[in-house]
Amino acid sequence: MIELKRSGTATVRGLRSVLKDGKREAPPPLWMMRQAGRYLPEYREVRVRAGSFLDLCFDPELAVEVSLQPIRRFDFDAAILFSDILLIPHAMGRNLRFVEGEGPRLDPLSLEEVGRLSADGVIAQLEPVLETVRRLRAVLAPEKSLIGFCGAPFTVATYMIAGEATPDQGPARIAAYTNPAGFAALIEFLADVSADYLVEQLRAGADVVQIFDSWSGVLPEAEFERWVIAPTARMVKRIRAAIPDAAIIGFPKGAGMMAERFVRATGVDGIGIDWAVPVEVAARTLQPLAAVQGNLDPLALLAGGEALDRSVDAILAGLGGGRHIFNLGHGILPQTPIAHVERMVARVRRGTG
Ligand code: CP3
Repeated sequence: MIELKRSGTATVRGLRSVLKDGKREAPPPLWMMRQAGRYLPEYREVRVRAGSFLDLCFDPELAVEVSLQPIRRFDFDAAILFSDILLIPHAMGRNLRFVEGEGPRLDPLSLEEVGRLSADGVIAQLEPVLETVRRLRAVLAPEKSLIGFCGAPFTVATYMIAGEATPDQGPARIAAYTNPAGFAALIEFLADVSADYLVEQLRAGADVVQIFDSWSGVLPEAEFERWVIAPTARMVKRIRAAIPDAAIIGFPKGAGMMAERFVRATGVDGIGIDWAVPVEVAARTLQPLAAVQGNLDPLALLAGGEALDRSVDAILAGLGGGRHIFNLGHGILPQTPIAHVERMVARVRRGTG
């Protein structure tokens, strides 16, 4: 494995200075959601060696290796821990497997079972992941940020209840309407165990943590308040009770007009926005409150060329006046050509000037 430590560099970690010190940086720090993954041949090679996806997540040596691959190739400003949001239900004893070419499968959870869920031993089960965090922080160059993460309670609950990815998260939404008390118990349980897990990641060396709420955008206003904003606020409070200066990014995908309320009510230091949020609106309503991360359309990155250049330039022009972390609006797609990522990185670092 290549050592990434550089001697003599200042310990300025780009993401934390934007998130915690309110600093604007030009060019903005840059990383990509799902940056370790199948679009990289070196990832596919390690993935085959590991056997299953879960074996890869639980093998600190291999997980460190795949977390570092995108940093070596693109010199991103941050590495994200290689893991998955579904390791929390797995650690709670829910049967999880990844079906090749189809995605995750869990035994569907009925809300009647929620009272029997236990947080005992969850952190111990996730010890190999914490070991990955410790090792990553030790080998990463000091100026690179290390991002830990978990899934937000709502998004994790959608998988636990349906047992698989669903087009509209229908099973969880119906369960929440028909048994709100049972759904609330599940959400609160997940919020607390996930917050404790993020605290352990921060203690193990993560500089920043991100809460992925990939499916929050399907919820109407009142449900978004109850199942996205309230549990995220609960997590932020619980994390800060343990680590007062924790740097926390919320990613409530699809939040749209609810994004400002999300930032105000949760107290996150940064918000990830998808490509449907106009950059002018983000600059005016979100950047005064928090750092804004985003928001390149992953399909513009996949397409490349002029469309990519125009999209990058519009983001830099629209968000460059405030606290900004350059990223995609959601994860990179496996079919994305590496040359397009190189083109994006060069353009962001060159600036629009
Ligand atoms: O960002 C990173 O590079 C870190 C790694 C990371 C993975 N999953 C690795 C992964 C992160 C941050 C996640 C988060 C995650 N996982 C989310 C939230 C973010 C998002 O993209 O919406 C969700 C919803 C999941 C659940 C999940 N994991 C699904 C639906 C799938 C199957 C879909 C797919 O892309 O195959 C996974 C598997 C998964 N997680 C892979 C990777 C690299 C692909 C598995 C493989 O290599 O076979």
